[in-house]
Amino acid sequence: MPTVTLIPGDGIGPEVAAATRRVVDALDCGIEWEVHAAGLPAIETHGSPLPEHVIASIVRNKVALKGPVTTPVGTGFRSINVVLRKDLDLFASVRPCHLYPGVDSRFESIDIVVIRENTEDLYEGIEFEQNSREQKKLRGYLKYMHGYALAPDAGVSIKPISVTASRAIVQFAFDFAKRQKRRKVTLGHKANIMKFSDGLWLETGERLAVDYRDVGFEAIHVDELAMGLAWIPNDFDVIVLPNLYGDIISDLCAGLIGGLGLAPGMNIGLDYAVFEPTHGSAPDIAGRGLANPVAMILSAVHMLRHIRMTSAAASLERAVEKVLADGHHRTADMRPTREPATTDEVANAIIEAL
Ligand code: NAI
Repeated sequence: MPTVTLIPGDGIGPEVAAATRRVVDALDCGIEWEVHAAGLPAIETHGSPLPEHVIASIVRNKVALKGPVTTPVGTGFRSINVVLRKDLDLFASVRPCHLYPGVDSRFESIDIVVIRENTEDLYEGIEFEQNSREQKKLRGYLKYMHGYALAPDAGVSIKPISVTASRAIVQFAFDFAKRQKRRKVTLGHKANIMKFSDGLWLETGERLAVDYRDVGFEAIHVDELAMGLAWIPNDFDVIVLPNLYGDIISDLCAGLIGGLGLAPGMNIGLDYAVFEPTHGSAPDIAGRGLANPVAMILSAVHMLRHIRMTSAAASLERAVEKVLADGHHRTADMRPTREPATTDEVANAIIEAL
């Protein structure tokens, strides 16, 4: 029987993870869970937000289902999400944005997949704090090499984009589009401004597109992409983006399909896969049973498909679809017309619909 590492996370994580576990257990497909704390709860119990044994568990099981984890702003520990993605080389973040019938949206149908590079770009964490010794050295170097006067009170983050990582993710996007019989791949960039990072990203994408003539391809400035998605989203199909643009655009696409509470996600590498909702730990609603569990339950649907439990995945997706379509059990974020349902009530309704 497959064993899956389950990381509930913090904030609303434990609530949506418990609901998802109940729903998957109700499928009776024999999944064993290995539960591990990460984030704030792990600091309390193990003195580290991402203890070694959590990574070891994913390496052993090859697949994990993860709730969101809080990242302190400005100071404190680095995002464990970024560390996990780097350590396990989960180079592709895949965020399917599908509008299910009955869900409130400005559009009638949406079916977009955002594929985001997960390992480099501004998320590398190469940073220089304002007025620090390191920043002063960098300032001296930039002045000497480029005649560039960096202000002492400027914080600096570096954006590396490599041919290797760009090729890997664009190839992944083309293969994904081909496998899923998708129309086209849209590559977003800002090569007119960042000639050496985004320029290289664009050039790598254009070169690869030649090998995939059976899949449509277009390159577009990321700002124009944002406008297009808000206006005529059905012009897009598979979108491939570097890390930061991918983070922002996938939240935009979540907004097209009913919000973050409905947006699943996964991080895929050659050896391991971690499934997690697009949303964060939502501290504003944590601990009150208000969180929408659907994003994490749909992430579990994709996990089941990944481990080839296709009929269990199909049953679960159908049950979610039924509950969303009948509209009787909706958490507050879905703007229900009646009394909002709790996290557990939504999970119960999905179990009943199985
Ligand atoms: P967020 O996604 O946690 O919340 C944004 C808004 O959406 C909030 O109003 C929240 O209440 C709502 N929301 C999110 N998920 C919901 C759900 N399932 N049901 C109902 N409403 C929901 O984003 P925010 O506030 O920017 O980040 C909070 C923390 O989460 C930060 O520390 C951030 O770094 C972390 N984060 C972690 C992620 C991960 O672990 N993969 C991903 C994104 C953010």
